[in-house]
Amino acid sequence: MKAAKHLVGRDTDVNENAPEILLIARRLIGLEFWLAFKDLKRRLWRGLLMAVAVLPGTLCAQSQSSLEEPSQRFRAIQNIFDPLSKPAELINDTARLTLLICLVIFIIVGGLLLYAVIRYRRRGPEDDATEPSQVYGSAAIELAWTIPPILIVIVLVLVTARTVGEVQNPQFPKDPLQLRIIGHRFWWELQYPAYGVTAANEIHVPVSYLPSTPRPVQMLLDSADVAHGWWVPQLNGKLWVVPNHRNIMWIQPTVLGTYPGNCTVLCGDQHANMLIRVTVESPEDFEKWIAGQKAPAVADPTVEDGRKEFIENSCGTCHRIAGTSAANGVFGPDLTHFMSRQTLGSGVADNNDENLRSWLRDPQVLKPGCLMPNMKLDDKEVDLILAYLKTLK
Ligand code: CUA
Repeated sequence: MKAAKHLVGRDTDVNENAPEILLIARRLIGLEFWLAFKDLKRRLWRGLLMAVAVLPGTLCAQSQSSLEEPSQRFRAIQNIFDPLSKPAELINDTARLTLLICLVIFIIVGGLLLYAVIRYRRRGPEDDATEPSQVYGSAAIELAWTIPPILIVIVLVLVTARTVGEVQNPQFPKDPLQLRIIGHRFWWELQYPAYGVTAANEIHVPVSYLPSTPRPVQMLLDSADVAHGWWVPQLNGKLWVVPNHRNIMWIQPTVLGTYPGNCTVLCGDQHANMLIRVTVESPEDFEKWIAGQKAPAVADPTVEDGRKEFIENSCGTCHRIAGTSAANGVFGPDLTHFMSRQTLGSGVADNNDENLRSWLRDPQVLKPGCLMPNMKLDDKEVDLILAYLKTLK
């Protein structure tokens, strides 16, 4: 590979087969800018050709993504500066104001410093190097660097206090949607008390267009074991989820989409895979989802053997399947409508046959350290239980 040859002699461990982008990154990190851009013209041409080749595919993918349900659009970039729900917007406003004030201070202080460094630098041997005149006890200067900072701090305190008040004491309309969220190691239990629905990990809420149909979601955060943290950056601020104390948070999302979030408090091995998904959908779709979750579990007679395996292997000690007397567990996620979820293991993998089979064989492969043990199922048992689970729509 030609690009790698430049480095030979300087760094003999360079892998000749390393992707070009890595070599470029290496050079940039090593500050060898001239090497990185040496073949710039050739690279530009190659980039242009690539773009022409890839463009039709990209356009296709774009038009496909515009065909999908807006509520299914996955907003993968958890950008705190692009809030799409009330508390996140309030926090963003305060953060921007604080950053703006700090930026102005930085520019003034940095500018004065830069000016002094350049204006009063040593100018060669003819410089007499005498000290400039010193100022002692200037009341004007003392006041100038005392009063404005105090005023700035007062402004920041007042603005922050107002935001904290608005986030913590919201004026809800008469009928907020209540959602109880219970943190477990390492997944989220969801309860919609008004509907008698229990689900797991994938939250559905109606969009709250203002002011026509304001319907904020009031979230009651509890923990079943250790401390967790709840945060979906585009929807709300961070909040601790602690045992024996209920914290309350709310969201009022205004744009359809599926928003990812994460547990924010180190809670054990699988803390990083304790993912949150909030699907914000139209009020009609939300009601449809609720109706689906309220329905009794599908009892498909063709998978009776799978259901028996599920019970015989004690899966029901930890998991609940509504209407199945031997499956009433509360330690693991409710599986009544398991197939309505898009992910497994609180977002660790897509919910498809391959991953589900891997999970049934040994959950510790996809999510090492999760509390579901390897049940040592043989291939036949895995197939039977898989077929049964797949009917739980
Ligand atoms: Cu739960 Cu980190």
